[in-house]
Amino acid sequence: MNRFIKESLADLPPYAAGKKLPNAIKLSSNENPLGPCPAAIKAAADSLASVHRYPDGMCTALREKIAARNGLSKENIIVGNGSDELMVFASGALINTGDEGLTCENTFSEYNFSVKSFGGTCNTVPLKEGNFNLDALAKGITEKTKIIFLCNPNNPTGRYFGEAELITFLKKVPQNVVVFLDEAYFDYVDRSEAPDYPDSPKLLKDWPNLLIARTYSKIYGLAALRVGYAMGNVELIEALNHAKHAFNVNTPAQAAAEAALDDEEFYEKSRQMTFAGKKYLYEELDKRGVTYYPTQSNFLCMTFQTPGADIFKGYADRGIVIRDLKSFGLPRSIRYTVGTEENNRRFIEILDELVKEGICTI
Ligand SMILES: Cc1ncc(COP(=O)(O)O)c(C=O)c1O
Repeated sequence: MNRFIKESLADLPPYAAGKKLPNAIKLSSNENPLGPCPAAIKAAADSLASVHRYPDGMCTALREKIAARNGLSKENIIVGNGSDELMVFASGALINTGDEGLTCENTFSEYNFSVKSFGGTCNTVPLKEGNFNLDALAKGITEKTKIIFLCNPNNPTGRYFGEAELITFLKKVPQNVVVFLDEAYFDYVDRSEAPDYPDSPKLLKDWPNLLIARTYSKIYGLAALRVGYAMGNVELIEALNHAKHAFNVNTPAQAAAEAALDDEEFYEKSRQMTFAGKKYLYEELDKRGVTYYPTQSNFLCMTFQTPGADIFKGYADRGIVIRDLKSFGLPRSIRYTVGTEENNRRFIEILDELVKEGICTI
């Protein structure tokens, strides 16, 4: 028992990040295996000469750019130190002791963390076939519910829900309950496979309680610079601004994010590499009869008969770090970030070795 920690946080383990091992290829945190967006790195480096000045606390230029891309105005945008921070701002604005958040089981842990850190409790309902169960969530709303977190596509399963389903859900949510729609993997959605994936910024005109979060940590390869943003109606964005710290996003990060938006070549190359990698992995996994969820993100969730922890170790011993999904409540599953062609080939080679050695049972 730690006497310096409040009760609501005492049973909450610190965030379990994807592991890093020296000399191993890290494919455990859904980062971009091609590295950072080159235009972003140049812009960040160029901005270093001005780091004796405080950053623009309101990220004005970046918000204008994000707004223009999404048919919104800058008052509809807030930028965070990663999209994680936006979850904390949203819960900070809404949650008092005893209030409730709501989300699904087997999803990103920071939803629960953000609610609990303000003295709330975060209720969950099970996923349905790896996807957010919006019907069950609607039924799970209570008088104390202040915020509902949706992850689309869901981390770690990669499953998605479509626009019609989202609208049906929004109609059931009381207007004073905020729907935090986390679209961290939006950039990897393949519209030819998921034509009904929501065009969520368009929904903002009808839903003042909708907040959409996206990140620069994944496709733009800027995870360490920490930039994410949320889009919402002015009243909701203002509420988050009340919970925001003054200079939360540093100048090189803002410069990098602005430049990244213009580097379409890198963006498209990253997407196409992931699409090709998915195709290759599906084929190889199907040949072997592996159970996995078809994904709309840059990662693949596979389930085996053997513990994910053993499979993790087998891969780590052979130079690839994957994610054991025990901390997501899926002890026999692993998550693999789709890598380069060479990474993916190696991933399958190792799978065959682990099966042969009895470390992994399909
Ligand atoms: C679903 C989801 N949302 C948000 C994040 C956090 O992103 P950021 O780096 O912008 O804080 C992640 C990171 O893994 C994620 O998987």
